[in-house]
Amino acid sequence: MKFFVDTAEVDAIAELNDLGMADGVTTNPSLIMKSGRDIVEVTKEIAEMIDGPVSAEVVALKADAMIEEGRKLAKIADNIAVKVPLTWDGLKACKVLSSAGNMVNVTLCFSVNQAILAAKAGASFISPFIGRLDDINLDGMDLIADIREVYDNYGFETEILAASIRSVNHIADCARIGADVITSPPNVIKAMVKHPLTDNGLAAFMADWEKTGQNIL
Ligand code: E4P
Repeated sequence: MKFFVDTAEVDAIAELNDLGMADGVTTNPSLIMKSGRDIVEVTKEIAEMIDGPVSAEVVALKADAMIEEGRKLAKIADNIAVKVPLTWDGLKACKVLSSAGNMVNVTLCFSVNQAILAAKAGASFISPFIGRLDDINLDGMDLIADIREVYDNYGFETEILAASIRSVNHIADCARIGADVITSPPNVIKAMVKHPLTDNGLAAFMADWEKTGQNIL
């Protein structure tokens, strides 16, 4: 399972990258806004740091303008994945950009049918949003499982990039289902390390070690 980091905060990306836990990065207009950085400048900095795909999202709504923006974003670095929304115009842009050899991440996916269309339009990644489905009392994880089943039925090569991750349970469930990639905020990836029995066990070992009066160094 690949880990993409869902942020435009370069320090947080660097920390995970140093541990080999940043196989890629995803950004979106809201994350760029939060970073307070210029999109081209920050995307370039991230793409130089990370070996894997770095998603940068178009903001045009019409296919021709999306394609133009996508070409500009793709020029930032070889590892840019152009992110387009799952609209009819987005699919047109996906087809043109992917046919020209660009990686394309089709985002804002909320149904299996949308995921099928993205795969047929040549998407490298499909981004189903788990948390936003959970927010409206639907089960985001069902969508991941359904897309996995359908893509496997037909051998679609589009990678399932599970997005809108809100909890460590989302990541474990995606791993069980077989999502190819999760993109997660850095704090959720770091929270995966936590277990109370690890903390309790370590405290007991430290207490016993203190009683031995020994030092290793
Ligand atoms: C990533 O590609 C998505 O834009 C992101 O995961 C959305 O997450 P959110 O629903 O928490 O904003």
